[in-house]
Amino acid sequence: MRCVLITGAAGFIGSHTSLLLLNAGYKLFLLDNFSNSSPISLNRIARLSKLSNNEVKERISIIKGDIRNLSLLERTFLTAKSQGEKITSVIHFAGLKAVGESFEKALDYWETNVGGTLTLLKAMEKNDCRTIVFSSSATVYGQSTQDSLIETDPVSPINPYGATKAAIERMLTNIAGCNSHTTPKQKSPSGWRIACLRYFNPAGAHPSGEIGEDPRNIPNNLFPLINQVGVGRRESLTIFGNDWPTIDGTGIRDYVHVMDIAEGHKAALDMLMLSEPICLILNLGTGKGTSVLELIEIFKLSTGIEIKYKFGPRRMGDSAISLANPKEALKYINWKSKRTLSDICRDGWNWQTSNPKGYDDAYSKD
Ligand code: NAD
Ligand code: UD1
Repeated sequence: MRCVLITGAAGFIGSHTSLLLLNAGYKLFLLDNFSNSSPISLNRIARLSKLSNNEVKERISIIKGDIRNLSLLERTFLTAKSQGEKITSVIHFAGLKAVGESFEKALDYWETNVGGTLTLLKAMEKNDCRTIVFSSSATVYGQSTQDSLIETDPVSPINPYGATKAAIERMLTNIAGCNSHTTPKQKSPSGWRIACLRYFNPAGAHPSGEIGEDPRNIPNNLFPLINQVGVGRRESLTIFGNDWPTIDGTGIRDYVHVMDIAEGHKAALDMLMLSEPICLILNLGTGKGTSVLELIEIFKLSTGIEIKYKFGPRRMGDSAISLANPKEALKYINWKSKRTLSDICRDGWNWQTSNPKGYDDAYSKD
């Protein structure tokens, strides 16, 4: 059985990817320190998988712990061995991800994101595991222009969070023995199999409404904020600027369904397992741009809910447009997004209304 360690498995993207891999027959070691997630998401994954209790015990091991803890990581590899299995690959989601916070706590971001990844890679190498799919971000490109972004565009992050993602990409390409950190596909002379996936704007939820995005603090991102305004948790949305050089003056982004992102991880992992040692750097986005006002309109059409909003000043570090050119992902891992913005709105809203307070809902069934 293919055996994968997933760090940050209880989080937004980790939970959806874990469910997908579970249903695809993988055995999973799910590691999280729950600093930005709830263990309830892992219970729900097990329930959604429709496996029997015995199968769940066989196929899922949950490890509460930190990626910076080398001995815990080594114990995890050893536990797999003691069960007659070998962890042959890692999907690495764990990390800190709030751009604003990364200015105030830059050291924490470098310690967790870069230090944590370094520790993870050491544990992997020691245990002869050299396949990793890493959560990178469109934020590595920095300020963007009107054009869609392609992997060969300059990496030039403008905030500490983005700088840590760019640094990890460099660390991974160095380990792979590759020269470039902007080439979508390179051979790895050192024998690693690596995929850095640069997500654009993941949003939405599993169609069941059982797992979804549940940020611990006030969300920074537009989509969870729209949902929380819709459900009455917040009074109104402040749109950051209506004077951008776009069709309606509001920022344009590339929103991609979280299940499409999950499928991108499976596609990357399956490709790495089959191929010679390589290092991939790929955008995961739809290539379609949507403004804030357009998203509010599509949300209304998909859910019937009108979102109250007001205009405020631009947010520091924002850009007018951030749009993926996703053609390299199609070429190298045969992935493209399948779901629409209406699917994102419908599924995200289903999650929000089924769990108005997220996993902490007092009426939670768990
Ligand atoms: P998330 O916060 O929901 O998930 C991250 C998970 O990692 C959480 O469950 C958290 O508890 C865990 N974690 C954090 N620090 C840890 C540590 N030191 N040890 C163990 N676990 C730890 O975030 P997400 O939206 O699912 O994002 C997953 C990854 O994708 C992150 O690395 C993020 O930077 C990246 N990413 C996210 C987006 C996005 O919009 N959601 C976009 C681009 C990239
Ligand atoms: C933000 C981060 C980016 C990170 C990504 C995913 C910044 C500058 N960028 O991207 O590094 O990879 O999240 O975590 O923080 N908006 C509003 N009002 C709000 C919130 C957002 O108008 O309350 C607008 C923004 O100006 C933007 C769009 O909505 O035009 C999307 O914002 P957001 O969801 O935060 O994503 P990004 O800015 O693309």
